Amino acid sequence: MNLLEVKDLAVSFATQDGTVYAVNGLSFALAKGQTLGIVGESGSGKSQTVLALMGLLARNGSATGQALYHGQNLLTLPAKALNQIRGNRVAMIFQDPMTSLNPYLTVERQMTEVLQLHKGQDRTAARAACVRMLDAVRIPEAAKRIDMYPHEFSGGMRQRVMIAMALLCEPEVLIADEPTTALDVTVQAQMLLLLRDLQKDFGTAIVLITHDLGVVAGLCDQVVVMYGGRVMEQGNAQQLFKSASHPYTLGLLKAVPRMDRDEDSLLAIPGAPPNMARLPKGCPFSERCAFVDAPCHDRLALLQSVPGTTGHLRACHRDLAAVQGQVASELTHG
Ligand SMILES: Nc1ncnc2c1ncn2[C@@H]1O[C@H](COP(=O)(O)OP(=O)(O)OP(=O)(O)O)[C@@H](O)[C@H]1O
Ligand SMILES: [Mg+2]
Repeated sequence: MNLLEVKDLAVSFATQDGTVYAVNGLSFALAKGQTLGIVGESGSGKSQTVLALMGLLARNGSATGQALYHGQNLLTLPAKALNQIRGNRVAMIFQDPMTSLNPYLTVERQMTEVLQLHKGQDRTAARAACVRMLDAVRIPEAAKRIDMYPHEFSGGMRQRVMIAMALLCEPEVLIADEPTTALDVTVQAQMLLLLRDLQKDFGTAIVLITHDLGVVAGLCDQVVVMYGGRVMEQGNAQQLFKSASHPYTLGLLKAVPRMDRDEDSLLAIPGAPPNMARLPKGCPFSERCAFVDAPCHDRLALLQSVPGTTGHLRACHRDLAAVQGQVASELTHG
């Protein structure tokens, strides 16, 4: 059974430059205990996708489509009903911990408030539960540290506090927006293992936003690859990595450092992400695509099933065999 079903989600912003279409036609379904990864370069629409689900878009933003949680559309739910779900049944770890931790309140005050509000616990019981959760995310001396202020924690520990706070009410859905970007590599790995353990213990469904395809490969069941506010490719993670079919996904995969190749052969995708207020008429990736052809400049490619697969979708005008054939030959000869 699906816990969260997003259908044809679109997010736009009214700006002085005109309307910015930050997310377009995004759909996915997430079942209990499953992880969906959203990947893409900076500005591709990852955060706005999840902020829309949490009802947290900036004032000039609006969302259409559906985000069904137990049959209720989060996008149109009145504030009161949404507040009962948010931070409780559906929780989020934000990209920047300092934006969601209040610097003027101790961690204890912020964490216990969540349990008092959503679970009606008294302060003493709430405090004990919070210490247990801080222990679970491996904050050393949690019983003592809980009385500190956010700035007294290191960056890595603040991320853990955020994770602990998001998990306090044992949410059914956890949305994690780049939960490990600010951390060094070893701490990153620890945090991701922690998420996996917690998922096992609580059966939480996770939406994980990341730049790191390695993380997606290790943790995710499904992947959505976004560019310029649109889905370029989407599907089962194993299948997608084995036979990536969109030039952008292939570019991302080639940009991942690999031990078996020289530093020099580390290929980045040439060019920079597009200006979202001035997207090209056709495929948003057309300006940087190595496989670009006339139709790519003229019209958007529809997101369609890759023949012979279940649920593997791509939005590309170019023939699949041609794209994959050229990549295979580059990897052999290049
Ligand atoms: N309030 C706003 N008004 C206008 N445009 C906005 C607003 N908020 C976000 N955007 C635009 O929406 C687009 C998508 O932003 P989003 O935050 O989802 O990117 P992202 O994929 O999360 O990038 P990053 O990896 O850098 O976090 C960007 O082009 C951004 O400039
Ligand atoms: Mg973001």
